[in-house]
Amino acid sequence: MIGFFGTLFARAEPKLSEATVRDAPAIAALHAASFRRGWSEQEVETMLADRHVVAHRALCGARLGGFIMARLVIDEAEILSVAVARAQQGRGIGRQLLTLHLRRLAGLGARTVFLEVDEHNSAAIRLYDRAGFREVSRRANYYAGEGGHSTAALVLRRDL
Ligand SMILES: CC(C)(COP(=O)(O)OP(=O)(O)OC[C@H]1O[C@@H](n2cnc3c(N)ncnc32)[C@H](O)[C@@H]1OP(=O)(O)O)[C@@H](O)C(=O)NCCC(=O)NCCS
Repeated sequence: MIGFFGTLFARAEPKLSEATVRDAPAIAALHAASFRRGWSEQEVETMLADRHVVAHRALCGARLGGFIMARLVIDEAEILSVAVARAQQGRGIGRQLLTLHLRRLAGLGARTVFLEVDEHNSAAIRLYDRAGFREVSRRANYYAGEGGHSTAALVLRRDL
């Protein structure tokens, strides 16, 4: 039975929509599974309730397949996080979420979008590069990596 529902989850076409505070538990769980420093449910709830925060989700069946969040202040947005569930990666969900999100941010008045990405995160760098983001600066020793090695953050920008 679990296998059957697992297959349904894996095959379901993602449905993209705005995320609300009710998505906080699922977003916190996916964030924790995706990053070394996870966000608590409370932190996610606070962000989703913030009127400057814009968030989208991708549902695969009834389950959260991915999310993206940005903070928009006047005409400048910063992407705070994007993640796709491991089993759903490589299906274009990240690209679909980013495209929808950028369109929504533009509609809300954003002229510029910034984000930070680990220099070794090739999947994310490719996603952003294909979406027209370009490197504007680099923060050395920004992320704590494996075995005490730290890695740089690339600061990327795209004008809308
Ligand atoms: C980055 C992430 C959101 C991409 O989501 P996704 O749904 O797998 O991405 P897509 O299927 O839309 O693919 C987007 C691009 O990335 C490429 N890509 C996907 N996975 C990749 C991988 N493991 N290695 C290299 N490139 C990869 C795809 O080929 C595609 O590029 P293309 O259009 O030139 O073919 C996902 O890998 C993820 O959640 N990673 C963990 C969290 C994270 O690092 N978030 C980003 C923080 S800045």
